[in-house]
Amino acid sequence: MKKNLIIILDFGSQYSYMIARRIRDLGVYSLLYPYNISKSKILSKCPSGIILSGGPFSVYKTNSLLISKNIFSLGIPILGICYGMQLISFLLGGKIGPSNYREYGKSLLEIIDKNHPLFLGINKNNIVVWMSHFDEIKKIPKEFNIIGKTSSCPVAAISNNKKMIYAVQFHPEVNNTEYGKLILENFVIQICKCNYNWKLTNVVNNIINDIKKTVSNKKVILGFSGGLDSFVTAYLSYKAIGKQLNCIFIDTGLFPKEEKKIIINICKHMNLPIKVINAKENFLSKLIGIKNPEKKRKIIGKEFINLFQKESKKIGNIEFLIQGTIYSDIIESSKKLNNNFIKSHHNVGGLPKFRKLKIIEPLKKLFKDEVRTIGKLLGVPGIILYKHPFPGPGISIRIIGKINKNKISIIKKADSILFQELNSYNIYNTISQAFIILLSTKSVGIMGDKRTYEYTAVLRSVNTKDFMTATFSHLSYEFLEKISNRIINEVNGINRVLYDISSKPPSTIEWE
Ligand code: XMP
Repeated sequence: MKKNLIIILDFGSQYSYMIARRIRDLGVYSLLYPYNISKSKILSKCPSGIILSGGPFSVYKTNSLLISKNIFSLGIPILGICYGMQLISFLLGGKIGPSNYREYGKSLLEIIDKNHPLFLGINKNNIVVWMSHFDEIKKIPKEFNIIGKTSSCPVAAISNNKKMIYAVQFHPEVNNTEYGKLILENFVIQICKCNYNWKLTNVVNNIINDIKKTVSNKKVILGFSGGLDSFVTAYLSYKAIGKQLNCIFIDTGLFPKEEKKIIINICKHMNLPIKVINAKENFLSKLIGIKNPEKKRKIIGKEFINLFQKESKKIGNIEFLIQGTIYSDIIESSKKLNNNFIKSHHNVGGLPKFRKLKIIEPLKKLFKDEVRTIGKLLGVPGIILYKHPFPGPGISIRIIGKINKNKISIIKKADSILFQELNSYNIYNTISQAFIILLSTKSVGIMGDKRTYEYTAVLRSVNTKDFMTATFSHLSYEFLEKISNRIINEVNGINRVLYDISSKPPSTIEWE
């Protein structure tokens, strides 16, 4: 029997996860899978519809990502988007080639078949759509009709109603596409016949029940970081299994000054018992002198596991480890298309296998803003809901180059100033994540008529919905000046402050 589920096969587009987000926003559950999952795995999920995402490849080149034609005989409606459309055409006998005009950005789509179910409810002949492609369909496959075009792309939407295969060259999942949400809704509701039945309130109850059922009367350990994901995971787990949960907060010494205090106070306020373990020296002794970013991540991951293992031995008979992994961690860590490895995130790929404990990841299918909504439903205070995320490896991956005690102390002081000013300007909550990076580069400066030769700090501030893509925050010059003046005047060891104006992609949020 078909489930109320849409699956998206990911061909590597930066927008793939947004398709899933948009569909969930409609109230229909959707999951993202690597493009090459097997036919039997697809069938085991019993989806009501399949979407083939965009991707950066050319279907006719040797390195392209292809799938078997079998997918078209499953009797499940299929929608191809961008690369997904070219792939459908290619596999079904159409011709694809480079476009005469590459289209990036806004285009005007002329709807040819105004009665097509995909365009239901659009009372316009032309709509603005978001394009991003360098190939186009030169000849459509047999039994397909062209249902939309633009002035430079004569085949911008095609359909084979009988076989329930549809495809669009533009990106309906992007906000800039007018009626994009409606086009996806038409596919999901009108064509795939899904119901609007996916609600976060149900998800909360399901998570609690699942934890109860899985854990039964066994003991559980949870590595608590105090971030939103970790807090929500801990809180839901505590609701589910109470004192069987052992929440361990490891003080690595790699937090900004305020972080630890805030976390401990909120846990008290929410009656969430946590055990704080002072492990500053353990981490410091292993990190001093380490330069390589992946090495830092691996050392920290390993030390976390050592400490958890010690703790679980002390508690005795622990069977499960609960982690606050969320969907974007999983997607990001599994993005190995063309061996395109990015970084080993501490809570997914960076942690060595915990040999004896079974892992539970209650939030692993949820996006960040969904976790925040759940947090709100649970009454988690704003200071946690809107707290900027803080990576497991802490400031060690914000000290570029070799780590030493002096640099740790310098970066903590600078970060503390940033935190104070974000609050005094009342802009902390308008920014997704802001922090200081300390470069190993020294430069010449002048202070009180004296030559200085000190480190350079970088201010990184980004805005993002899901941390998978991000833009740098447009902070005022007044604010930037204030931060720069305060850091240079008050922090010994820094004589220059830069502002990072890169977006993700092509940069990442953290520098290492
Ligand atoms: P990047 O640098 O990959 O960061 O663009 C995306 C988001 O993830 C955070 N981050 C981490 N979080 N463990 C975590 O729990 C990690 O190892 C880790 N590395 C990066 C980063 O701060 C940003 O919010």
